[in-house]
Amino acid sequence: MKKIGVIFGGISTEHDVSIVSGTSVIKNLDKTKYEITPIYISKEGEWFIYNVPVNKITTLKVGEKVENLVKIENVIETLKKCDVLFPVLHGAGGEDGSIQGLFELLKIPYVGCGVLASSIGMDKAYTKIIFEKAKIKQAKYEYIRKIENEYIYIDKEFNESKSTLEEICNILVDKLKFPMFVKPSNSGSSVGINKAKNIDELKEFIEYASNFDTKILIEEGIIGREVECAVLGNVDVISSYVGEIIPAEEYYSFDAKYNNAESLCIMPADIPKEISNNIRDLAIKAFKAIDGKGLSRVDFFIEKSTNDIYINEINTMPGFTEISMYPKLFEKVGYKYPKLLDELIKLAHIGEVKNVQSL
Ligand SMILES: Nc1ncnc2c1ncn2[C@@H]1O[C@H](COP(=O)(O)OP(=O)(O)O)[C@@H](O)[C@H]1O
Ligand SMILES: [Mg+2]
Repeated sequence: MKKIGVIFGGISTEHDVSIVSGTSVIKNLDKTKYEITPIYISKEGEWFIYNVPVNKITTLKVGEKVENLVKIENVIETLKKCDVLFPVLHGAGGEDGSIQGLFELLKIPYVGCGVLASSIGMDKAYTKIIFEKAKIKQAKYEYIRKIENEYIYIDKEFNESKSTLEEICNILVDKLKFPMFVKPSNSGSSVGINKAKNIDELKEFIEYASNFDTKILIEEGIIGREVECAVLGNVDVISSYVGEIIPAEEYYSFDAKYNNAESLCIMPADIPKEISNNIRDLAIKAFKAIDGKGLSRVDFFIEKSTNDIYINEINTMPGFTEISMYPKLFEKVGYKYPKLLDELIKLAHIGEVKNVQSL
């Protein structure tokens, strides 16, 4: 039997979501094929064995506390006992390449994107730069930095100029149209994100976003429908149906995602075949552009007035609960949750960079 270490929790603002995703993965892994080690990382970054018999593990709810934990004394030893690691972690420290770097150094194959793809996908400003290069249409954007009390505007050639918040906002108003979405560059689950409708809100939301990250992305709002497409593969990559999100609030905020039962996911989205095929191709293109491996969920907008497709973001470890878009979309094309997990484990890999000894 293959020994699989499923890692969940983590140090990011998406800790609670990861608990739901991680326990859901454990519940759906075929216990006749895999010997599972459930590994929980606390918000403080401590590692534990989730000491519940694996066939008794059920999906925990958002906000539910993980109990029956046994502290791992030697994390590296524990990881090395696994054949494959499955980091079901969202956000910083889990979806950004850092834990993937640890697995690479330990030479243990793992599920999902490698170091580079994970870090590009996690950093919204750098994702934009790559998608721009790939000529995938996206909302007009600018990004800035806040270092201590200073704001820095960064132009399209990476030239930096120090400014006050007022000056920065004047530049932004000059370059972009309201409404503008203000986002911490490294964020997820909509944490720290706001929609600014005027310059006062722009100032307020930039200051707020700076609580989460020193790099802040500001982009034009797209009026239209919000759709998502899942991809699977390393070299030969397949895409799922396209699903549509209908947020119960003005946009898909944290509450609309996790606390408002009125947000809807429609699968497959009721859109013309041609648009859906375009989105599926673009999802694979975006995944390849960031050097993706294993899986990702790629999110788009379809602009109301033009039907143009805009890419929003790529999630290298998308929500993985039983009701999440990623497994649901693949279920529609014949991959039931446990089969999808089998595929992902088959796709587990370590980097292709050769070390000196192998030359
Ligand atoms: N440019 C935009 N135009 C319209 N809505 C947007 C835009 N950017 C973000 N949103 C809304 O905000 C939500 C969260 O933004 P997103 O960039 O997807 O962050 P996260 O990584 O936290 O999911 C989106 O699902 C969407 O509803
Ligand atoms: Mg999103």
